[in-house]
Amino acid sequence: MELHTERLVLREYVLEDFGAVHSFASDPRIARFVDWGPNTEDDTRAYLEGCIAAQEASPRTVFALAIALPGGRPVGSVGLTLDEQQRGHLGYVVGVDHWGRGYATEAATCLLAHAHNTLELDLIEATCRPANMASARVLEKIGMTFTGVRPRDRFVGGQWSDSLVFAAGSSSSEPPSVDLF
Ligand SMILES: CC(C)(COP(=O)(O)OP(=O)(O)OC[C@H]1O[C@@H](n2cnc3c(N)ncnc32)[C@H](O)[C@@H]1OP(=O)(O)O)[C@@H](O)C(=O)NCCC(=O)NCCS
Repeated sequence: MELHTERLVLREYVLEDFGAVHSFASDPRIARFVDWGPNTEDDTRAYLEGCIAAQEASPRTVFALAIALPGGRPVGSVGLTLDEQQRGHLGYVVGVDHWGRGYATEAATCLLAHAHNTLELDLIEATCRPANMASARVLEKIGMTFTGVRPRDRFVGGQWSDSLVFAAGSSSSEPPSVDLF
């Protein structure tokens, strides 16, 4: 699977992406608001192997894609995971050197559209930590709606953290309704 935006290619991971992925996934600044990382080399290898295994699963429930500049190395990841209720969960990460260029917004917009239009998911959810202003801004920019706070939702940086919950429904199911607690 490969998706194209104005500036980016969202493509399947291959094992050769190890160096590029490890360079951002091992960065402590990336791990500040997420419940993984900073990655060891083994963590990154396991992540890539998991992404590649998921490409072959049928039905496929994990879409973890490289955010790549055309012809270039991955500068980040964007992912969509389907749960048992066929709800999609959206996430993304962009290497620090590439922050502030709109890449997360562009990649997430594209995968969200794919989730609605091609995978025909009715409800997509995304969460971020309350202090993660950049991520909350991305979710706002891609048109997701803030639906509430889920207390003590993720173990981040050695402690439990609340999540801000955002949702996007298909046009036929607006406004989105999520089971928050
Ligand atoms: C969150 C993240 C993916 C954003 O990537 P990005 O490519 O820089 O995002 P974009 O450039 O598309 O948009 C970022 C927006 O946040 C804004 N922003 C950045 N830092 C901010 C801050 N401290 N306070 C408020 N807004 C902030 C930017 O100004 C921009 O909004 P604008 O276009 O209105 O100016 C990136 O910071 C990252 O990888 N962080 C670490 C991993 C992570 O937190 N992932 C999300 C887990 S929920």
